[in-house]
Amino acid sequence: MNVVESRDLALAEVARAEDHSQLERARVSILGRKGTITSLLRSLSELPKDERPAVGKQVNEAKQSIEKAIERRREELDSSLSNTRRVDSVDITLPGRTQHQGSLHPVTQTLNAIEEIFVSSGYSVVHGPEIEDDYHNFEALNIPENHPARAMHDTFYLRDGMVLRTHTSPVQVRTMETQDPPIRIICPGRVYRRDFDRTHTPMFHQVEGLVVDRGISFADLKGTVTSFIESFFEREVELRFRPSYFPFTEPSAEVDVMGETGWSEVMGCGVVHPKVLSMSGIDPKEYSGFAFGFGVDRLAMLKFGVNDLRVLFDNDIRFLRQFG
Ligand code: FA5
Ligand code: MG
Repeated sequence: MNVVESRDLALAEVARAEDHSQLERARVSILGRKGTITSLLRSLSELPKDERPAVGKQVNEAKQSIEKAIERRREELDSSLSNTRRVDSVDITLPGRTQHQGSLHPVTQTLNAIEEIFVSSGYSVVHGPEIEDDYHNFEALNIPENHPARAMHDTFYLRDGMVLRTHTSPVQVRTMETQDPPIRIICPGRVYRRDFDRTHTPMFHQVEGLVVDRGISFADLKGTVTSFIESFFEREVELRFRPSYFPFTEPSAEVDVMGETGWSEVMGCGVVHPKVLSMSGIDPKEYSGFAFGFGVDRLAMLKFGVNDLRVLFDNDIRFLRQFG
């Protein structure tokens, strides 16, 4: 009997098995009741007594190495089987599924950036109502009824003397009514006007700023606005103060920023009119202040290079995705 030859034949048979049933058939033919190795073990008793231990050891070693080979082959077949299944159920030639991550709207990003700049220089953020009464939107800002400045605002009028606020300036009135100087606030929010063209939308966003303290002058306003614009654009920008008129500030100015298509007006500002201070209970002999109100959407437009303000509010996902 040749143990080595039997073992090698058995190992070759195991290696040839191409699936689990072939492997099982091989196992039975080798290690089954009538298997080649089992028969060898049985025939040990026919050997002379003194040869039995050595041959017996050989056969047992052969049996163990075959069992190991069967186990290894089974694992190989298992893993190639799961590969086959994977290939069947998934078309691996398809492009991968990308996960779309949402992002903040460019106007929200702009508002957040603005708030961060002012909060880090000590301003508090306050909010006011979007449905406003005539007194706070106009009267308390030195715009009495029939004042021609009302025509600048293209107001949406509601019932009972209420309006959709046309600017965030009423929030500075509400703040002065309830707080004593020193005051240092910004008021972000939505405002509404009957406007619609490339640089005007019927709903847009403003951020109002108000500083009231002793000895506040136009120079403080100019420095504040200039350093804000530079922090916001994160570069030096061309900017100009243009003399203007608002009934609630004196002197007044508008600020333009140079964009891709030329000068773009971004804000109105000025030294708070003494009448506005006293109407809200602040003594103009003791205190002075400056105020500004800028267009958030205009700033977003300039920063992101958008050439029509209206696309900011179309909510076309292809447009919005560019600001992720
Ligand atoms: C005002 O609204 C004043 N309340 C600003 C102010 C505050 C002056 C405090 C003095 C002191 P004006 O109407 O110019 O000003 O609007 C301010 C800014 O809002 C404009 O410079 C512009 O950037 C933006 N804006 C005005 N109308 C629209 C609109 N329809 N769509 C988008 N942005 C607009
Ligand atoms: Mg203006």
